[in-house]
Amino acid sequence: MPDISFVLNGKETSYAGSATERLLDVLHNSCCVAIGAVVGSCVVTLEGYRETERYAVMDKAFADVSAVQCGFCTPGMILAAEALLSKNPHPDETEIREGLSGNLCRCTGYNAIIRAVQKAAEEGNGLW
Ligand code: FES
Repeated sequence: MPDISFVLNGKETSYAGSATERLLDVLHNSCCVAIGAVVGSCVVTLEGYRETERYAVMDKAFADVSAVQCGFCTPGMILAAEALLSKNPHPDETEIREGLSGNLCRCTGYNAIIRAVQKAAEEGNGLW
């Protein structure tokens, strides 16, 4: 079985396990995508994203509007928001809800999370 090679947070990486393993199981703070699907791709985890100016804006926005309750969903919400703003720097509420729809918040703090993404979009104007 050939190694699975990809770039993880800017560094060349390879994995010698099964291509059907989930990134969640291999990287431990990730998603349900099979690792075989990221061959040759650049994968950015929250740890890598935290090194960016965009993260600082996003993190402050989540804190400012108290969008974190237990925090279980927060890494996924932040990375989904980053993906959304990368494609659409000025989303309306419906677009934000759609952009985050793959992530569940068991604390049901969706309204605050929506406000956090709106605030990040406003305050990070020009970063995305
Ligand atoms: S803040 Fe608890 S799951 Fe979202």
